[in-house]
Amino acid sequence: MSLALSRIIAGAWRLDQWQWSPQQRLRWVEENLALGISSFDHADIYGAYTVEALFGEALALAPGLRERLQLVGKCGIRLAVPARPGNLIHHYDTSAAHVRASVEQSLAALRTDRLDLLLIHRPDALLEADELAACFEALRREGKVLHFGVSNFSPAQFALLHSRIPLVTNQIELSPLHRQPLHDGTLDQCQQLGLRPMIWSPLAGGRLFTGEDDAARRVQAELQRLSDELSVSATTLAFAWVLRHPSRPLPIIGSRRIEAAREAVAALQLKLDAQQWYRLWRAGAGHDVP
Ligand SMILES: NC(=O)c1ccc[n+]([C@@H]2O[C@H](COP(=O)([O-])OP(=O)(O)OC[C@H]3O[C@@H](n4cnc5c(N)ncnc54)[C@H](OP(=O)(O)O)[C@@H]3O)[C@@H](O)[C@H]2O)c1
Repeated sequence: MSLALSRIIAGAWRLDQWQWSPQQRLRWVEENLALGISSFDHADIYGAYTVEALFGEALALAPGLRERLQLVGKCGIRLAVPARPGNLIHHYDTSAAHVRASVEQSLAALRTDRLDLLLIHRPDALLEADELAACFEALRREGKVLHFGVSNFSPAQFALLHSRIPLVTNQIELSPLHRQPLHDGTLDQCQQLGLRPMIWSPLAGGRLFTGEDDAARRVQAELQRLSDELSVSATTLAFAWVLRHPSRPLPIIGSRRIEAAREAVAALQLKLDAQQWYRLWRAGAGHDVP
């Protein structure tokens, strides 16, 4: 069974900061769904290990809702926080024992029986590809995780694990203020393998609008000019910029505002031409292409 994520994905990273009641969280899920945003991006560590349970609490209010969603989870980072007294320092752990324990915990917190997709959150220098692949196979056989991928992996790191077990995505950061994956082989690899990357911080975490550094100010000015020319919002433009890449990325929006989600969805109807796209590239880089 192939994985079908929505073209725009909702990110749950900041959910704990929004201080919402379970009903407000449920409304956020339902309003996203109404816009066609049916995939939700999670990680065990979000909100210092609290976000999955906040989301699960909302899901439990609406029986049957789970069947209309795709849930993406991540593991592999261990944070030294009070909720995990055994973690003495922040570190990575992609051992089969940790991955399995983390998945079991995520399923319980999200109040679901399966993750549609599980990602290894960050490349772990101690990653044992054969051990992890066997763990993934077992989780799939048990029906606990349907698909697997990685996040923030270099092309070589991706190729190693992909040689042991098929991965469906690499979740990476991309925006006019973070262009590295355009040029270091990451997105070329996605296109070569026909795998759609998931994109985090497509609005550079808000820096596209409120950043005060030189690069952010240049991008803000160019977004304003393009916005006036095309009569679309800066948010729509930022999503159109990410969506324009030939690897057919799946951007993850991190805003709490449903209006921002609506503007992101509007980008699905806007195809920037090469000059418009490179104007934003140039604004981010601070110079013309070579
Ligand atoms: N794999 C990884 O390593 C990784 C890392 C980071 C994130 N992620 C995932 O990616 C998702 C998205 O990341 P992100 O939250 O950084 O995405 P983002 O969409 O680039 O940034 C969202 C932030 O930008 C702010 N923002 C949006 N529009 C704005 C505007 N017009 N003016 C001022 N501020 C504005 C939002 O505030 P408002 O809510 O007020 O709009 C929010 O704080 C996360 O939820 C998480 O699921 C993954």
